[in-house]
Amino acid sequence: MESNLNNNTNTSSSESYWMANTTPPSFPELNENVNTDVGIVGGGITGITTAYLLAKKGYNVAIIEADQIITGTTGHTTAKITAQHDLIYDEFINHLGEEEAKQYYQANEEALDFIKQKVKQSKIECEFKEEDAYIYATTNKKAQTIEKEAQAYETLGIDGQYVDQLPIDFSIQAGIVMKNQAQFHPIKYLTHLVKELQNMGVQIFENTTAVDIIEGNEPKIVTKYGFQVTCKHVVSSSHFPFYDGKGLYFSRMYAERSYIVGGELKGEFAGGMYLSADKPKRSIRTANMNGKELLLIGGESHKTGQGGSSLQHFQNLKDFGKENFGIDSYLYNWGAQDLITLDKVPYIGQLTSRHSNIFVATGYRKWGMTNGTTAALLISDLIQEKDNPYQDLFSPTRFYADPSIKTFLSQNANVAAEFVKGKLSGGSKRAEDLRKDEGDTITYQNNQKAGGYRDTNGQLHIIDRTCTHLGCEVEWNDGEKTWDCPCHGSRFSYDGEVYEGPADKPLKKLN
Ligand code: FES
Repeated sequence: MESNLNNNTNTSSSESYWMANTTPPSFPELNENVNTDVGIVGGGITGITTAYLLAKKGYNVAIIEADQIITGTTGHTTAKITAQHDLIYDEFINHLGEEEAKQYYQANEEALDFIKQKVKQSKIECEFKEEDAYIYATTNKKAQTIEKEAQAYETLGIDGQYVDQLPIDFSIQAGIVMKNQAQFHPIKYLTHLVKELQNMGVQIFENTTAVDIIEGNEPKIVTKYGFQVTCKHVVSSSHFPFYDGKGLYFSRMYAERSYIVGGELKGEFAGGMYLSADKPKRSIRTANMNGKELLLIGGESHKTGQGGSSLQHFQNLKDFGKENFGIDSYLYNWGAQDLITLDKVPYIGQLTSRHSNIFVATGYRKWGMTNGTTAALLISDLIQEKDNPYQDLFSPTRFYADPSIKTFLSQNANVAAEFVKGKLSGGSKRAEDLRKDEGDTITYQNNQKAGGYRDTNGQLHIIDRTCTHLGCEVEWNDGEKTWDCPCHGSRFSYDGEVYEGPADKPLKKLN
């Protein structure tokens, strides 16, 4: 839910390329109680695809979305449709097992195939294009990791192999290709699905925030203004789960921000989608911008609220584009938020073992197009009481001791350290020191620390930096003009409104 980003510091747009060029249909707010078979919270790729699959089977479905459908996380992706989710298959074989690693690949390949078939059958004009996906190493150390990944591809029967050069003019030590993956324009694809939902009678409500569930045989989704959606099944596909149900999701996932810039490419692009194995990470693909090639470069990920200046992250991507592709002006830049689970496999299935009619889908890392579609295929099967081969792999109640215990301990140690650091840091500025469009931690009345932002009209906005989730101190994000929490990734507008959970209450305004 990042529709209000306000980056005035350079000439490029802070709106994602996908959102700048398409207008999804709009829908009314929920202003009465409704009854339905399936209530879906979250109108991104997961919620829309789940609604599509179930409505086709004759279920009555309602979607409620806190902001506008399609424009949240789904509107901020790089929109690669691939099962190549970084270098993970060797790691998955070692930590989860060969069978599970293979299932992960198959589930994502099936998701890719679902999108491909849907685009073909319905003739959806969404710039769907098959491309090979590459990961490349520029250091010896990562070249060795790539060799291991190539062995994992062979073990799992993945259609791909080790390569020593790329189709693009880019010098590497080693690379690995996964064949016949794809890319598309996610908003165009989902806008078509939404039209089909409308034809099938699916009810869609926007600007309707779900805040709670009253559990029972017929659970009720409760919205911010007190209206209820009574249903037989709830699907929580709201990026961070809006309802925890004692699943403690905030302690089992962490949030990362990353950045994307887009600039017009001079000359031809040789095709392919790319990801660096080394840090800083670089993700590369092109998009068709009115017959011209728009190069999208992503990367610079860091834990939310812990990455320093986001303006600098955008600049680093632009420098990379200039150095390697000769791009010197950029039309787009935007940020994205991703949630990562303890073992890197998404949580898809029953919210907890005692919730047989409440389902959740979250923790896609950076791979929401396939993982989101996998989630829709899996949850729609579970609701229809059909067996799905991947339900154990993605079950939110699974637990693999290695690596989960290690990741759990290091994440929670990091949260504790950030909690203390936030209480001690910042505050060397006073409100009057803030220039227009500048935000920072300031020392406020009675030497109290607070978050201050002076907007472009000169008006000062002061908030209590204490995150309304569990009390860590939020940090200023200078590129996106938001307050970001370093503990579990909640994000707030410059005047404290919630953009992303787990927090569900605004920051306290002090002026
Ligand atoms: Fe948990 Fe802020 S998101 S304390």
